[in-house]
Amino acid sequence: MADNRVTFGSKLGVILATVGCAVGLGSVWRFPYMLGTNGGAAFLLVYILFTIFLGLPVMLTEFFVGRHSRSNTVGSFRKLAPGTCWSWIGYNGILAAFLILSYYAVVSGWTLEYVWQTLRGSLYGPGHADYTAGFQTFASDAFRPIFWTAAFVGLTHFVVVSGVDKGIERASKIMMPLLFIILLVMCVRSVTLPDAGEGLRYLFQPDLSKLTSSVVLSALGQAFFTLSLGMGCLITYASYFSKDTDMQATAWQVTVINTFVAVLAGIMIFPAVFSFGITPSAGAELVFITLPNVFEQLPLSFLWSLIFYILLAMAALTSTISLHEVVTAYALEEFHMTRRKAAWIVSVSVFLLGTVSSLSFGPLKEFTIGGLTFFEALDYLTAKIMLPLSGMMTCIFVGTHIDRAVLKAELTNEGSVRFRLFAIYVFFMKYVAPVAIGIVFLNELGLLAWLIG
Ligand code: PFF
Repeated sequence: MADNRVTFGSKLGVILATVGCAVGLGSVWRFPYMLGTNGGAAFLLVYILFTIFLGLPVMLTEFFVGRHSRSNTVGSFRKLAPGTCWSWIGYNGILAAFLILSYYAVVSGWTLEYVWQTLRGSLYGPGHADYTAGFQTFASDAFRPIFWTAAFVGLTHFVVVSGVDKGIERASKIMMPLLFIILLVMCVRSVTLPDAGEGLRYLFQPDLSKLTSSVVLSALGQAFFTLSLGMGCLITYASYFSKDTDMQATAWQVTVINTFVAVLAGIMIFPAVFSFGITPSAGAELVFITLPNVFEQLPLSFLWSLIFYILLAMAALTSTISLHEVVTAYALEEFHMTRRKAAWIVSVSVFLLGTVSSLSFGPLKEFTIGGLTFFEALDYLTAKIMLPLSGMMTCIFVGTHIDRAVLKAELTNEGSVRFRLFAIYVFFMKYVAPVAIGIVFLNELGLLAWLIG
């Protein structure tokens, strides 16, 4: 991909590829899991505010960096500020992409297990196990989840090496809308379950007393994770945008679609959670233990379940491909190796690290870092620290090093599209985003109270 800076073929291609990178397990799996462990609707509120007021400006800024420099994540900062330390933002992003890929592949592997179980008929057959117990037996197994992680890394590796992403891009033109339709059907089924109202209140009626510093930090992390910000993915993608890609419109579209999918996922999950008496704060397994209950309530449950998990696996695949590509493109350009070799090194290391994450649901459960399992600790480090930090530094960099006129020319395609809110964007990018992210960090560390007090 990065060898000879090709550009995306069509307008739709740009949006689909970027949406494909953004929409994935982050909205369907991580969002409900985070909302459930962070007090419900108050989390949703802060997440949406962060998405609009921080996510959007940061996304536009990353688009600027990518298309203006036409280079990979590290190269772009080097090109825009030669001989300075700013390229560390790029290194931070690449490391984050690598670490995220390692545990993202584990969860992606779970989707394959559910495809398999649906196919075998063991998920819904008569006398099936309780879904929670079933998941726990699977996830705590020492081999099965690792096998699926390997399968998923293998699939990703194959696409990255053979460059069949064109096929994937075409396939996702059908799959993404289909996933959307199934989400809608599931939402309808979920909100018509007994006691669904309780779930909807949990999702939409904020209790502001729940807003602790950790909830706010989690919402910030979720906004960055789900929009694929702070890890160079969008910088890399934007470097393939053509000169007349409307980056403002693309940023809006990606943000709106992504947020919409997350909210739909919430409507699909929480009424069912309350209806079936599941604990909202069940953690990473929430979606996997809730959904089979909903499928069971649909006619042709087997078919819905099968299609849904295949589509979810595909949505995850478009994300793992972009994460893998960020690291591979960097490795091959930087160390002058072949694409195949770079991809192998990335895949094998990702798999090895993924194994530890996977085992942290079973044999390594007791091994904790600051009270978090290895899987949770990686997620915390990347989503809540590395990504916002990268976003903050990117804004500071562009705010201090890039001439306003250059910024405006790039974001308006040399004046051919209008940018009425340019001054507001600059204000948010230059001041609000870095200050807000800084405050959230200080607050979580308890330093804010200390400074003020
Ligand atoms: N945004 C993706 C999701 O929500 O599932 C995760 C992701 C994909 C993050 C690709 C970063 C990235 F480069």
